[in-house]
Amino acid sequence: MTQELTSPSPAPQAPGTGRGPGWWRDAVIYQVYVRSFADSDGDGIGDLRGARERLPYLKDLGVDAVWLTPFYASPQADGGYDVADYRAVDPLFGTLQDADDLIRTAHDLGLRVIVDIVPNHTSDRHPWFQDPALARQRYIFRPGKGESGELPPNDWESVFGGPAWARTDRGDWYLHLFAPEQPDLNWDNPEVHTEFEAIMRFWLDLGVDGFRIDVAHGMIKAPGLPDIGHGAQAQLIGAQVLPFFDQDGVHAIHRAWRRLLDGYGDARGKQVIGVAEAWAPTAERLALYVRPDELHQAFNFQFLNAPWQADGLRSVIDASLAATASVGAPTTWVLSNHDVVRHTTRLGGSLARARAATLLMLALPGSAYLYQGEELGLPEVTDLPDEVRQDPAFFRGGRETGPAGPGTDTESAPDGVATAGGQDGFRDGCRVPLPWSGELPPYGFGPGGSWLPQPADWGGLTVAAQTGDPASTLELYRTALELRRRLPGLGDGPMSWAPAPDGVLAFTRPGLLCTVNTLGHDVGLPAPGTPLLSSAPVTVDDATARLPGDSCTWWAI
Ligand code: BGC
Repeated sequence: MTQELTSPSPAPQAPGTGRGPGWWRDAVIYQVYVRSFADSDGDGIGDLRGARERLPYLKDLGVDAVWLTPFYASPQADGGYDVADYRAVDPLFGTLQDADDLIRTAHDLGLRVIVDIVPNHTSDRHPWFQDPALARQRYIFRPGKGESGELPPNDWESVFGGPAWARTDRGDWYLHLFAPEQPDLNWDNPEVHTEFEAIMRFWLDLGVDGFRIDVAHGMIKAPGLPDIGHGAQAQLIGAQVLPFFDQDGVHAIHRAWRRLLDGYGDARGKQVIGVAEAWAPTAERLALYVRPDELHQAFNFQFLNAPWQADGLRSVIDASLAATASVGAPTTWVLSNHDVVRHTTRLGGSLARARAATLLMLALPGSAYLYQGEELGLPEVTDLPDEVRQDPAFFRGGRETGPAGPGTDTESAPDGVATAGGQDGFRDGCRVPLPWSGELPPYGFGPGGSWLPQPADWGGLTVAAQTGDPASTLELYRTALELRRRLPGLGDGPMSWAPAPDGVLAFTRPGLLCTVNTLGHDVGLPAPGTPLLSSAPVTVDDATARLPGDSCTWWAI
């Protein structure tokens, strides 16, 4: 199934290489959810050619790197996170040549490329799972309980709902922490380790600059696969260590991958990175994934889930910075991704808060991930008809919806499927294809339609409509990213809190002060400097600054 390249010479590498301090420590990385970014062939599904054509847009936006979600051969039972061949591109998304072209074009533009790797599970159509003898060695099979083995081997629940076990027609059971089409690999088998190292080398040879490691907390299960003892387990993910998530054994795998990444990079004078998608109960446990001999980055989901409230934000920021500093790593901030309710909606349906949250994130020390469409201020689409839904969690009915009210704390979210902001918690609403131009769907997404319907009122949110409008969210992102590149005090480096009224956060970075008013009304304070950029119009009169409600301002000091 592996496809051949017509030009197998190594792709040019991105500039700025060598071990040095680490490009990733303060990089802004843009997540391209490939099927919803740009469609080149009119089938309504975004693809690699479409993404490649839009790379100049990302360069102009001012990001440093692009993370591409899985585009590998897959039956698409879970949006491509069910991989049948890790070395082939699914025809839905193009060919291996298209991937090669995309990587080259990105590097020519000075953008790095990170790809997803999915090591916790494969597709049930993967050749290993298709061969019963191989499958028994390389996946997690157990006999059932009950008189004739008719009951699952233990009480574990799938993240998507229902039991985490499926029975084969041979009568035994296999573990699937996600959909039944996603059997969990057996990481006690050294062949699994060897294969994933080979897969990484395959993509590194094609020129990628790193990997986003899916379910990086999941590969190792507690010995004996002990029962948990109660249900609603999805709610425990990220809140406590579970026998299937955040087991200490996963760290040995990450250490081995770090050796591989460093060895590969050193031999070529570049730095290639690993970023963990890991749900850990505390900032300290998350920091274990970014110890010096482990991965480079780990998404900070506690920040993503923080309430829009000054004290709560401050304590999450403090805990995150302290935990990562204790292992010498930067913090990796994120507000939106393809698994969670878009932050405009999650923060109470407030574009003002979303814009302020973004400026706050971009002023904090460390790296930041942006999710496609957040730069347009896109809201979650909340009225998708059931017939168009594709999230496997919807069909398994497993999501504990339990919507938090608008703007309330969302608490810990199930792995990859956070619920929040009064939404139903399924993940199609944040995956609606991007609006690029025009007044009507598909808004320039491609020459055909779009795999999920786009709202009729997105004409004013397109890239074309917002470009050049200084009040637009797109121009706010562009300016913020431009300043972030230009001002030496932003990105990696020191930060300290400054005095501020209740409900307001203030902190300094070298040469800069950032204020965040989390209240719904104006707050006055002595002007701390000259406003450089604000998420809402800020006024300064007689040395008194008026911070609009739900706003963030960067001040030159
Ligand atoms: C991905 C999800 C996916 C799950 C299973 C998550 O971490 O981000 O989209 O459904 O892993 O692979």
